Amino acid sequence: MIRKAVFPAAGLGTRFLPATKASPKEMLPLVDKPLIQYAVEEAQGCGIEEFIIITGKNKRAIEDHFDCAYELEDALTKKGKKELLEQITNLNKINFAYIRQRAPLGLGHAILCAKPFVKVEPFAVLLSDDVIGLNETLLAEMVKVYNRYGAPVVALERVAHADVEKYGIIDGVEVGPGLYRIKSLVEKPKPKEAPSSLGVIGRYIITPDVFEVLENLPPGKGGEIQLTDALKIMAQRGPMYGVLFAGKRYDAGDKFGFLQATVELALRDSALSERFRKFLFGIVDNERKIFRGGD
Ligand code: G1P
Repeated sequence: MIRKAVFPAAGLGTRFLPATKASPKEMLPLVDKPLIQYAVEEAQGCGIEEFIIITGKNKRAIEDHFDCAYELEDALTKKGKKELLEQITNLNKINFAYIRQRAPLGLGHAILCAKPFVKVEPFAVLLSDDVIGLNETLLAEMVKVYNRYGAPVVALERVAHADVEKYGIIDGVEVGPGLYRIKSLVEKPKPKEAPSSLGVIGRYIITPDVFEVLENLPPGKGGEIQLTDALKIMAQRGPMYGVLFAGKRYDAGDKFGFLQATVELALRDSALSERFRKFLFGIVDNERKIFRGGD
C-alpha cells in the first residue's frame, strides 16, 4: 500500500522569473487551481492519505492554500456560494506535513528531508511542475507495478534527442509492453552520452532504503544531491522498473509548457471551453493572416 506522497516544493523556480521572485512556482495557477493542487488531487485519486510537502523560503502561500480560511469561508457561507465553499473547505481536510528544506541542495536532499515523516514505508514522489493530463492514470499504473514487484518505479517519457540534457535518463530493457527493467540511470547527460531517449518524468514510487543511500551520497550534477544518483545505486542493488507514459504531460515550470497546459485545461473546462475555443479560432485565423502577410 502506498499511503504517503512527498511533494518537493523548495526549488527557486528560476525558469519562471520574475513571477517566482516572491511567490512559489507551485502556486502558479492553471485556469483556477495552483500547480501543486493538481498534483495533490492526482495523488488523492490513487489512495494517498498523507501528504508531505518540502518547502523553502517564500513558500508560505502553499501552507495557506491548504489551511482553513475562516473569513473567506464565512463570506462564502453568507453569500450562499455553496460550490465555491465546498471547493475551499475540501482543501482543509487533507492531512499535510510541511518540512522546510533549509538550503537548495537538490532533489535528493529534498527527499531526504522527508525521512522522519515517511519512516519505513514506500512512498510516492510528485514533482508538481510536471502536470499530467486530467484523465490519465499514470500514477495508478505505477502503484500497480509497485504492488506486483515490490520494487521502485519511475515514470518515463520518450524525449527528443536534444532534450536528454533536461532529464534523468535510463538504461533499461523492455520486459513488457511499456514496462522497463532499469539497469542504470544518469542525470541530465549530454546527448552523445545518453544511454537511451527514455527520460524520467516527475512521478516516482520509492522504497525507504533510498534514505540510507541519500545519506551517503556525494553531490552530483550541479553540485547537488541528485535523486537520480541514489536511484542508480538502488538499481545496481535490486530490481527497479520504469512505466512508459504515452499520455499528455506538460512541463509547467517552463513558460512554454505552462502556456500549453493552460490552453489544454481551459479547453477541458466545461464553463470555459466553448468561449475559449471560439477565441482561439479567432486568434489562429488572425495569426495565419499576419504570418502569411509576412512571407
Ligand atoms: C528533476 C530530476 C530529473 C527528472 C526531472 C523530471 O529535474 O532531477 O532527473 O528527469 O526532474 O521533471 P528538474 O526538472 O528538477 O531539473
